[in-house]
Amino acid sequence: MEFNKLLIERRSVRKFDASKTVTEDQIREMIDAARFAPSWKNDQPARYYAVCSPEKLAEIAEGGITPNNIHKIPGTVMLVQTFVKGTSGFNNGVADNRCGDLWGAYDLGLSTAYLILKAKDLGLDTLIMGMRNGDFLREALQIPENEELMAVIAVGYKDEEPALRPRKPADEIVKFF
Ligand SMILES: Cc1cc2nc3c(=O)[nH]c(=O)nc-3n(C[C@H](O)[C@H](O)[C@H](O)COP(=O)(O)O)c2cc1C
Repeated sequence: MEFNKLLIERRSVRKFDASKTVTEDQIREMIDAARFAPSWKNDQPARYYAVCSPEKLAEIAEGGITPNNIHKIPGTVMLVQTFVKGTSGFNNGVADNRCGDLWGAYDLGLSTAYLILKAKDLGLDTLIMGMRNGDFLREALQIPENEELMAVIAVGYKDEEPALRPRKPADEIVKFF
């Protein structure tokens, strides 16, 4: 898809077509694209837990997703994202500046942008869910304690056409010097 079109037409989708299936190969292509995102000293702290099997999806849906998000996930594969703590933004275990592990979150956010745009390019849509049950997901997916669990991304085929949500004008968010 043409780059500007991709940027402008991506939406958070909250209703997916449950008759269609997202494949592991499609998820692999998305992760593959996300690998090209920049990161602090090329640390690459992003990690993904791809929940594809119907059994594991049901388990995650049961306890890993908060009630306000639960209706949004039928028909999706879920990607649980983490970043490895104490690496990005750190030198030999010492934080390089006051941001500390915020740099790990920063790097993960960059790779997320690549990931969700690649999904769109593949004809898929996504919903980033920051509202999730981290303790449940950590246990269910055996996520180690040195990884910070961030969002869950639902990936599927859209079954709605969401309107563009309002955006602040560029001049409101930039100061030129
Ligand atoms: C870090 C983050 C967390 C989010 N968490 C949720 C969520 O838990 N549930 C939800 O429905 N949308 C969630 N969203 C989606 C945002 O509401 C959405 O991106 C925003 O309203 C802009 O709409 P758009 O993505 O369609 O452009 C989240 C987005 C981000 C980036």
